[in-house]
Amino acid sequence: MAVSALPVDQRVIDIDSRRFASIEKALVELITNSDDSYSRLEHAGPLISDKIIISYERHQNGALLTVCDHAEGMSFPQIHAVLSYGGAHSQMARGEAGGRGFFGRGLKQAIYGLGYGWIESVQAGMLSRVDLFRAEDGQYLFEDWDQDRPAEAQDYSRLGIPLDSNGTRVHIVVDNPQTNIPYFASLVTAITNNIY
Ligand SMILES: Nc1ncnc2c1ncn2[C@@H]1O[C@H](COP(=O)(O)OP(=O)(O)O)[C@@H](O)[C@H]1O
Ligand SMILES: [Mg+2]
Repeated sequence: MAVSALPVDQRVIDIDSRRFASIEKALVELITNSDDSYSRLEHAGPLISDKIIISYERHQNGALLTVCDHAEGMSFPQIHAVLSYGGAHSQMARGEAGGRGFFGRGLKQAIYGLGYGWIESVQAGMLSRVDLFRAEDGQYLFEDWDQDRPAEAQDYSRLGIPLDSNGTRVHIVVDNPQTNIPYFASLVTAITNNIY
């Protein structure tokens, strides 16, 4: 087990995550990240898939929201880079066109804003996973499971990523009592029915 504190100023991530404590902002952020990844892939050639799959499971005391794509995926070092605050990994920070992210203040804040969760990503046959959660004292922590490992057939089927594809699935456990769950459910239903 390698649980570490997020390599960012804890007060700053706290402020940022509160700003992201809304279903709309979190979903827009995750869909935008997936869409950005597809658009980078498009420049390289035809896509295996262009799907962004949103799932929503209602639970007694909250919900599980997932957003999955079959785009670039992230390597173990890349997934680590996402954890550092607004680092050089951010497309916008590098001044590249096409990225619409918010200076690297997106993915982790979307998760922390709604509760806690984990990111699983497959790239070049390797599976990386990072869990984001908070300590009892409120500290922002992550667990990286020490290293990546070869992705097995059951990982691809569990994640909903086609064999031989790369991709990312973000899981958010929505436990923030300020989040309006019934509204959240109807919003996700509307999005999944009409757009994706
Ligand atoms: N679904 C995804 N597929 C591939 N890479 C991703 C995905 N989501 C995030 N990333 C990578 O993580 C980086 C950080 O994401 P994020 O924290 O949302 O900041 P930003 O979108 O501003 O770059 C992105 O720039 C991208 O390189
Ligand atoms: Mg982003």
